[in-house]
Amino acid sequence: MTTLRVIEGDITTLAVDAIVNAAAPGLGGGTGVSRAIHAAAGPQLFEAASALDPVGRGDAAATPGFALPSRWVIHAVGPIYVTGALGEDTVLARTYRRALEVAQQIGARRVAFPAISTGAYRFPREQAARIAVAAVREAVAAAPGAFDEIIFCCRTAGSAALHQAALAG
Ligand code: APR
Repeated sequence: MTTLRVIEGDITTLAVDAIVNAAAPGLGGGTGVSRAIHAAAGPQLFEAASALDPVGRGDAAATPGFALPSRWVIHAVGPIYVTGALGEDTVLARTYRRALEVAQQIGARRVAFPAISTGAYRFPREQAARIAVAAVREAVAAAPGAFDEIIFCCRTAGSAALHQAALAG
């Protein structure tokens, strides 16, 4: 049985098995949640992430969490929202599913996600929340027994409310 939960807060403070980073394909630093994760994890995270092969849009790869309270960071690269008619929905859903496939491979049973693509990548927040919840439900159903808890960690109350509404829907 896997619990899906929404919290409002800073993902870098969560002592879970893995937190997901909303990364760019080169897996460097960046802005937003990525900057916060790299700052909290320390310079070793940058070295480890930079040493990985580039990650394509909709894909993910893991590194240790270094100074973070979470054991792992799963670097997931969401779509840049352009018009909405370029397959952005499909790529966002795949990003969540791939992040959970990587989580399963490394044995992470408690995983926290930020709202991927809703900052610098400009994905509309309500639509992104619905896609995130649907994709996570699908991935959890496809991997029975793999996960104890999946957390949607939202930076603002508005984002948390959208995820709560999507979970209730
Ligand atoms: N904890 C949880 N969520 C956070 C935090 C935090 N500490 N800081 C920001 N967020 C939220 C933002 O409010 C936003 O809803 O993360 C969400 C994703 O925003 P971005 O970090 O801008 O990620 P994204 O839209 O996927 O853009 C990725 O930005 O940093 C660069 O290198 C990164 O190029 C990539 C792009």
